[in-house]
Amino acid sequence: MVAHLFSNGWYSSRNQRYATFICTPLFPTLNNHIFIEFMEHILGIDVGASGIKGALVALESGKLHGERFRVPTPQPSTPKAMSAAFAEIVEYFNYKGPVGCGFPSIVKNGVANSAANIDASWKGTNIEQVFGEATGCRVFATNDADAAGVAEMRYGMGEGEQGLVLLITIGTGLGSALFYKGQLVPNTELGHLLWKHGKSAEAWCSSGARARLKISRMDWAERFNEYLNHLELLFSPDLFILGGGESKYFEQYKHILQTEARITPAKLLNNAGIIGAAGYAAENSR
Ligand code: BGC
Repeated sequence: MVAHLFSNGWYSSRNQRYATFICTPLFPTLNNHIFIEFMEHILGIDVGASGIKGALVALESGKLHGERFRVPTPQPSTPKAMSAAFAEIVEYFNYKGPVGCGFPSIVKNGVANSAANIDASWKGTNIEQVFGEATGCRVFATNDADAAGVAEMRYGMGEGEQGLVLLITIGTGLGSALFYKGQLVPNTELGHLLWKHGKSAEAWCSSGARARLKISRMDWAERFNEYLNHLELLFSPDLFILGGGESKYFEQYKHILQTEARITPAKLLNNAGIIGAAGYAAENSR
């Protein structure tokens, strides 16, 4: 039976469980279109300013298939150095299929259009091309927060939410993903809202800022609450979803966050970016 691919955007067939492993060695000339239809697990890689994390993802369930593998982001994080780290992850999984990549910048047509927490030479670089050449795989790149948001809307706390949802990832930078009636508005970059003293919001209340300024988590939460309130004034969301590393500590600071909108930590925690990246590859490699 032909897989009912992407009926909801992503995979939905239960019938091709072992097809990847059976088909690829036997029919190496299968074209990509057929190949992807038979794949069950797709490699998603979440490129961050401090770590690059990858895992095989079962898109039917939205769960990781096995463990994640992480390598530290090289410094300086040039395209050449990052490509080697990216390729290390692909090799670790001995993977040959399409790879999804969540990348910490504005991403348009596979090209990085900004470089806030990564080497400036990324700006204008075709992510899909450089990572594709380094790995020999087809790579599909999207903004990391957008990838996390799509995964969270599909499998996590955003499931079934029809109003306006704003996911903020709190890490080295602040990422954002905006949804209305389940539709993503890509590359919103709300971490770069112009904030106090002419700086960006992420320079004031990301995890990176908390570490750099050496402030306590509670002091950080006061700042973050101000930021959420400003976002609320601008967007009137129904739900805030908090992702990224800092969302793990939500219980410690949730009493400080006060908005009209509901606030919840991401269900997929730090794996949302990997899962969303894999989904992006599945959708775009059809
Ligand atoms: C980048 C965003 C990214 C966020 C989280 C920001 O500095 O500009 O594109 O989503 O960090 O990584």
